[in-house]
Amino acid sequence: MKKKLLIGVVGLGVGYYHFNFLRKLKKCKLISVCDTNQKKLDLVKKNFPKINTYKSFDLMIKKEKLDLVCVASYDNYHSSQILKLINKKINIFVEKPMCLNYNEYFKIKSSLKVNNNVKFSSNLVLRNSPQFRVIEKKINLGEFKNIFYIQGEYNYGRKEKILNQWRSRIPFYSVTLGGGIHLIDLAKFFLKKKAVSVIGAGNKIVTKNTKFRFNDFTTGIVKFQSGVIMNVISNFGCEIPHHHCIKIFAKNKTFIQDYKKAKIFSSRKNSSFERLNVNYHKRAKTKILESFIDSILTNKKPLVTKEDVLDVMAISLTLEKSIKTGRWEKVKY
Ligand SMILES: NC(=O)c1ccc[n+]([C@@H]2O[C@H](COP(=O)([O-])OP(=O)(O)OC[C@H]3O[C@@H](n4cnc5c(N)ncnc54)[C@H](O)[C@@H]3O)[C@@H](O)[C@H]2O)c1
Repeated sequence: MKKKLLIGVVGLGVGYYHFNFLRKLKKCKLISVCDTNQKKLDLVKKNFPKINTYKSFDLMIKKEKLDLVCVASYDNYHSSQILKLINKKINIFVEKPMCLNYNEYFKIKSSLKVNNNVKFSSNLVLRNSPQFRVIEKKINLGEFKNIFYIQGEYNYGRKEKILNQWRSRIPFYSVTLGGGIHLIDLAKFFLKKKAVSVIGAGNKIVTKNTKFRFNDFTTGIVKFQSGVIMNVISNFGCEIPHHHCIKIFAKNKTFIQDYKKAKIFSSRKNSSFERLNVNYHKRAKTKILESFIDSILTNKKPLVTKEDVLDVMAISLTLEKSIKTGRWEKVKY
């Protein structure tokens, strides 16, 4: 039998959910955590004295013998932490976005190429929502004929987080890379095609004269290889609870998910539709990480592959680039 994977977690925000999941998972052993916040580390030490705690990421990866690290630090630390982990041949599960610009992207991409044995995935969680899994299966079975347009909307509904927390303090924060990226990932998951070019625009009307220095709203048109067009929206200033909307238009069917409801229409002549379950259990949220762990232990394909992470990141970065240039930009992979 294979040995248990030895795991470390960096960043105890969303990383605390990984921490709680991993410490109960039989096929691995959570041995260390890292956070720059000493109070969070003290709490871990008090409740789980056997887990080693570190304020310094460099020290943790120097002292511990780790097979996998879950990176859930602030966005601006992801790329340097990833590069150090690849260098030490440690497998990586990173929170999105894996990086913040093309310079970092290409460094990571070429380092992963040289160190091909290092496994790499990211927490693109929407892929495992029940309704999206159903839709993906239906698309694979050919039930949606000639998809021509996808619309994806990420309505953040957590304005306080961009106004008062680290998102307003780091050198660069992108709502596209923090939000819309999930919808771009869904489009990639449904279409299984590469995107070719992107044009975008953004504004910061809602957070004008606040500490948040970046666009709080962005939108983009993404052209995929097959001619399918996607419109993606990252809406971080909205006054509505957190949710995602997605519409898929095919020649014979239309899928619509709006606030808490998902439906498939098969006719424009009557208003009958099939309703889909949108309940997203906690267990489903940890599946992306668990499938990655299984892929390390058994070589099975994970739910989110390295290629998925790189492709979706490239599309999102190109959208950010186009917002700056105001032009159609080719997606560089
Ligand atoms: N997949 C998702 O749907 C999802 C959801 C929320 C957040 N995230 C991502 O998770 C990451 C963290 O966001 P959050 O909401 O958990 O933030 P958070 O503020 O709740 O927690 C982040 C923690 O990381 C620690 N930290 C930051 N930089 C560090 C470093 N260099 N070394 C060690 N510790 C460090 C902070 O002290 C803090 O405790 C972000 O990249 C964010 O985009 C992903």
